[in-house]
Amino acid sequence: MTTPGNTLNTLNTTDTPNPEFINTPWRDPQQRPFIEIEGLSKRFGDFIAVDAVNLKIYRRELFTILGGSGCGKTTLLRMLAGFEKPSAGRIRIDGVDVTDLPPYLRPVNMMFQSYAVFPHMTVYQNIAYGLKKEKLPRAEIKERVGRMLELVQLTALSKRKPNQLSGGQRQRVALARALIKQPKVLLLDEPLAALDKKLREQTQFELMNIQDKLGITFVVVTHDQEEAMTLASRIAVMDAGDFVQIGTPSEVYEFPRNHFVASFFGSINLFDATVTSVDAGELCVLLDDSDTEICTRYEGELAVGSACKIGVRPEKLLISTERPAEQGNTITRGVVEDLAYKGNRSIYRVRAQNGRIIMVSAQNKQRSAHLPLEWDDEVYLSWPSDCSVVLTA
Ligand SMILES: Nc1ncnc2c1ncn2[C@@H]1O[C@H](COP(=O)(O)OP(=O)(O)OP(=O)(O)O)[C@@H](O)[C@H]1O
Ligand SMILES: [Mg+2]
Repeated sequence: MTTPGNTLNTLNTTDTPNPEFINTPWRDPQQRPFIEIEGLSKRFGDFIAVDAVNLKIYRRELFTILGGSGCGKTTLLRMLAGFEKPSAGRIRIDGVDVTDLPPYLRPVNMMFQSYAVFPHMTVYQNIAYGLKKEKLPRAEIKERVGRMLELVQLTALSKRKPNQLSGGQRQRVALARALIKQPKVLLLDEPLAALDKKLREQTQFELMNIQDKLGITFVVVTHDQEEAMTLASRIAVMDAGDFVQIGTPSEVYEFPRNHFVASFFGSINLFDATVTSVDAGELCVLLDDSDTEICTRYEGELAVGSACKIGVRPEKLLISTERPAEQGNTITRGVVEDLAYKGNRSIYRVRAQNGRIIMVSAQNKQRSAHLPLEWDDEVYLSWPSDCSVVLTA
């Protein structure tokens, strides 16, 4: 057997939150991670479902794991819960190596992808079930279930059976059942997938409030980017069993590490470019179909003369018939090929001089029954140069 994870923990770390990093413990070099995953892999025969991943999650985080179908999210969560034995690697939770512990000895509870509530039991009985099994005194069960019902706002419905509840209410019963045993970590596998869009958005906020009130560390798996952005303290973007990028919602959106992450979170326009200079964290490139040089933040390795792509989000682009100011802007030209009025904003598809289509999302700030631009209008497209993302893969 491997030694119980002593290598996972670095010395000189602490559990006491540093006020300076209260909402961003991952930036505190002294903070000890609450969940620590090192070199964790899972093979099913020849197939590698999870490929030697490393991850540190901090106390009270609402951490999301995001990725397409089959990328290994559930497998990773099942290893954390103890339902799946890792092929390699260690897991440590709250200072204890749990890799070889069975599920019931881990300070973890899991809400499964297809959550099950008992159909023949009332809401109350469903929530009380775990405590009854532990043979806790009646009065304590009543008190704890009562508090839980209040937390998930189901007190008035406690006598109903699941088939007399809406999808969102059933979801909250499942959540209450998972929370009642006061786990240190709650693992939630696609907790809101069964809900329609509106209910889902409402339940996202409820989930965040409940997590905040209880101070439990949540690890939420989802394949919905918007949901991950709304919920998460940080997001791990997963692809083919590996993490492609781990960061806050704004980091992964504004500073995607590669094209996969960039296009996973909304749309991004890509321009071909050639590197003209490289200097400590700053890279300058010349867009292939423009004479403007763009200098922007870049921490990777690219040599002068090499080709790369510049990514720009549609909402960063300004579309206008007049040539915009040069200062700090990248400017290119095109013709409006398509437009869609969406009320709060309009989406333009502009054909650039090199034939490529560029998407622009423009806020409709003025109140007008007339569109400011029409099909076939010749337009300038511009964006602040520092909104450019250098993408190599
Ligand atoms: N018991 C198993 N035996 C063989 N292959 C498995 C087993 N469990 C999962 N897999 C494979 O491992 C990969 C990852 O599965 P996993 O359930 O973790 O995906 P996921 O990211 O949760 O996907 P989804 O979003 O569809 O739920 C898939 O390709 C799946 O087919
Ligand atoms: Mg899954």
